[in-house]
Amino acid sequence: MDQIVIRGGRRLNGRIQISGAKNAALTLMPCALLTHEPLTLRNLPRLADVDTFGHLLNNHGLSTTIEGTSPEEFGRVMTVRANRITSTVAPFDIVRKIRASFLVLGPLLARAGEATVWLPGGDAIGGRPIDLHLQALQALGASIEVAAGYIKATAKGGLGGGRYRFPIVSVGATENALMAAVLARGSSCLENAAREPEIIDLCKCLVAMGARIDGIGTDRLEIEGVPHLHGATYTVMPDRIEAGSYACAAAITGGEVELVGADAGDMGATIDALRAAGVMVTATRDGLKVASGDGLRGIEIETAPYPGLATDMQAQLMAMLLLARGRSRVTETIFENRFRHVPELVRMGADITVSGRSALVNGVAALHGAPVVATDLRASMSLVLAGLAAHGETVVSRIYHLDRGYDRLEEKLQAVGADIRRIADD
Ligand code: EPZ
Repeated sequence: MDQIVIRGGRRLNGRIQISGAKNAALTLMPCALLTHEPLTLRNLPRLADVDTFGHLLNNHGLSTTIEGTSPEEFGRVMTVRANRITSTVAPFDIVRKIRASFLVLGPLLARAGEATVWLPGGDAIGGRPIDLHLQALQALGASIEVAAGYIKATAKGGLGGGRYRFPIVSVGATENALMAAVLARGSSCLENAAREPEIIDLCKCLVAMGARIDGIGTDRLEIEGVPHLHGATYTVMPDRIEAGSYACAAAITGGEVELVGADAGDMGATIDALRAAGVMVTATRDGLKVASGDGLRGIEIETAPYPGLATDMQAQLMAMLLLARGRSRVTETIFENRFRHVPELVRMGADITVSGRSALVNGVAALHGAPVVATDLRASMSLVLAGLAAHGETVVSRIYHLDRGYDRLEEKLQAVGADIRRIADD
């Protein structure tokens, strides 16, 4: 398996182009199942998860054609077309690779009246149940059979629509329910729906395809089902988590970086946390400029559903706080096991104590490079961030986690002065 080698201590300076958002791309791609016409997605990030999702759609009979890159955007242009759905089964060998595969459940049910999806199971950060996905689809008229390791959903005669109030906010369950409701025979109402920017991107893409959705951006979504959707061309939003991750890189190295294409409107809570820690964040014509100022100070942060602080930023902000003056408290309220980066950071000299849902960080004067192991996508980025600031060499293993969610990471960091390289495992 490849490794990443970082020699820390360099201040990052320059411009980093932010790619299209992974968590938007992974909910926009299955929208192609909802119509026989082509859906063209622009600014798609170059990520392993996007490629894997493309293979999943091919398995269902969809064609996925990369049409080069669009000059004004950094990403790829892909046209996905479901002339005919040849299989309504999402196989285990793909679903186990990427949990987001579960997002074909709603659109398959809506378009083909049935779907069999293998259970994604838990992963490094938690049990990752799917009960809310199933409850929401049942409220829209689906029959759900849970068998040994897979879900079979049917809606003979199509979904009728309905009302569902999510007991807790779930991004994926909101996405599955939305993609099912848009082709239902009647109207639907989703209450306590997720409000993440990626949900807004999904709604805007569905509307571009002819869907009728009210309340976009709020926690109450009202959908009037339509008989058919048509094709569209849609540009994926910029990745707010990638942008926040590189903002932490600028901060922890004492540098100054412009995040080209970043949208401050999607990053409110992250920007608030950065500023509270003493980081200077200013909007520019092309995006956001982030400078470390005169040193970092400890803060208290707590993750929450949007517009709260994204759980996907927790590990990266924790890494940034390792060298801050004073104490920080990082509380994770979304996932039950999302501190797996802590032991690896401690091996680099960090002073972190985990107690239940919170981690107490005492700022230290310096970190030292070490061989560390990535455990999940955002944890692996926190190790890279610590390596950028550490004295000496850090070698990060299992970086396939990184490749799932960070488009051309080494290239982007090298361009702003980092001493980082990938060594292929021969
Ligand atoms: C999405 O995951 C993102 N993934 C995650 O990003 C992100 O961390 C998460 O939303 C929260 O923002 C994609 O968009 C592909 P949830 P998702 O359903 O939809 C519980 C990354 O690093 N829950 O909002 O799976 C669940 O256990 C990834 O890019 C149920 O109990 O997250 C969690 O505690 C990691 N039952 C909470 O809800 C369900 O049926 C929020 O999960 C579903 C979820």
